[in-house]
Amino acid sequence: QGLARHTFVVKDVPYTRLCSTKNILTVNGQFPGPTLHVNKGDTIVVDVLNKGNYNITIHWHGVKQPRYPWSDGPEYITQCPIQPGQKFSQKIIFSSEEGTLWWHAHSDWTRATVYGAIIIHPKKGTSYPFPKPHAEVPIILGEWWKKDIMELYNEFRESGGDPNVSDAYTINGQPGDLYPCSKSETFKLMVDYGKTYLLRIINAALQDILFFAIAKHNITVVGTDASYTKPLKTDYIAISPGQTIDVLLETNQALGDYYMAAKVYSSANGVLYDNTTTTAIVHYNQNYNASSRPQLPNLPSYNDTNASANFTGSLRSLADDNHPVHVPLNISTQLMFTVSVNTFPCSTNSCQGPNGSRLAASVNNISFELPSIDILQAYYNHISGVYGDQFPSFPPFIFNFTAEDLPLALETPKRGTEVKVLEYNSTVELVLQGTNLAAGTDHPIHIHGYSFYVVGWGFGNFDKDKDPLGYNLVDPPLQNTIAVPKNGWATIRFKADNPGVWFMHCHLERHLSWGMDMTFIVKNGSNPEAQLLPPPSDLPPC
Ligand code: C2O
Ligand code: CU
Repeated sequence: QGLARHTFVVKDVPYTRLCSTKNILTVNGQFPGPTLHVNKGDTIVVDVLNKGNYNITIHWHGVKQPRYPWSDGPEYITQCPIQPGQKFSQKIIFSSEEGTLWWHAHSDWTRATVYGAIIIHPKKGTSYPFPKPHAEVPIILGEWWKKDIMELYNEFRESGGDPNVSDAYTINGQPGDLYPCSKSETFKLMVDYGKTYLLRIINAALQDILFFAIAKHNITVVGTDASYTKPLKTDYIAISPGQTIDVLLETNQALGDYYMAAKVYSSANGVLYDNTTTTAIVHYNQNYNASSRPQLPNLPSYNDTNASANFTGSLRSLADDNHPVHVPLNISTQLMFTVSVNTFPCSTNSCQGPNGSRLAASVNNISFELPSIDILQAYYNHISGVYGDQFPSFPPFIFNFTAEDLPLALETPKRGTEVKVLEYNSTVELVLQGTNLAAGTDHPIHIHGYSFYVVGWGFGNFDKDKDPLGYNLVDPPLQNTIAVPKNGWATIRFKADNPGVWFMHCHLERHLSWGMDMTFIVKNGSNPEAQLLPPPSDLPPC
């Protein structure tokens, strides 16, 4: 009744980039897909129709969906996929989020082209905690492969090694004019002199954390993951896959053209995924002398771990009277998870991982395997044999994380579909510890159904005596994705007040596929208002 309705038709459409044409999966034929506009607290319905050739699901990244994981979207976690020819009406319930989020496919690697922005405006009658910008523009960073994505994915699965590097990074679907055969494929932001623009930056890339900057212009960060931050003036940002960063751009430079640009950040030793630069142009409307080539911004180098960590570590919640922080202070559930890239033996011994092995990844040494029917359905309907509730605690022996190799006992993870059960309203502190075997890199860890406060982070091994003394319990940023530094740790806190089944995983797609995933089940509270809502009648069948 009265809910705003949108239709998402998922279908193949030909697109040309870098002088080569292929069919890509799109929503409504658009790439990037349509932008959803809502106000804080709205509920909307999206009718998703699968007119493509593959199974698909759609996830609303960062939308907490209170008590209603049924439309959250990750395949085999909260639903079975929507099969070709089928339809699923997804109810999206916005609660405390305000700012920028995004939606994307959550089935195999289909999210490579199936994504779009979600803009959550302030509630009617309230406004931004900064002067109203002249205009607002989504800036979506992505990756483009000339190859068909399903082929890329299948080759990746078979090889057991790293996936093929993308052919280009993109800004709003366009590689930009620094790539060969890409002259006309450049996104242009037309601006007037002397105004303020709100750029809603989203990293939709499959595999890479990115640096982003605009030549000659400082930008001011005002939000991340649909939560406001203290204004942070900077000349670059680092943004993880999954993350959103809202920035204000003041058009106060000499009339002309300026590049905005994005480039990889990768801390992996000697492994460089793609060192190319995607660009878009900021064009001052009054400029009549556009003959000179725009200048490029200075971006930190691909291995500049400090540049990435310093930026991420400078974010603070706005924490004013209208935007109070609610960091849990008394912790009832203390958890520590290791996030590791490791290996499995390869049956043919000719896999492309280290020494002929097959690359894997794990959380607390369990490499997550998707079940064949979704965990939410199994939980709700008490179907046994789908998942176990024995998610292990932190490997109970001390080892040297910062060594180049993990101890033998942890080199080969166990496979499993284990969930961690949390009591309703428990206050959770989770220390995420990065380890370093094989292609060590930062891990952008994302949790569905929740935002969490990032109260601390650091390099090296977490020190349970010293590190908590430095926690920020006053104005830590509220995020849904946190880059856990390579060979480092990050501590997050949240209150488990959203009952349901919620996926947690690395947002680097290869790590997700290798098993750097786990699932939380948050139990119902005793109050009926604290319980899972019933499923919709049109849940896709398994
Ligand atoms: Cu951006 Cu599991 O999602
Ligand atoms: Cu990862």
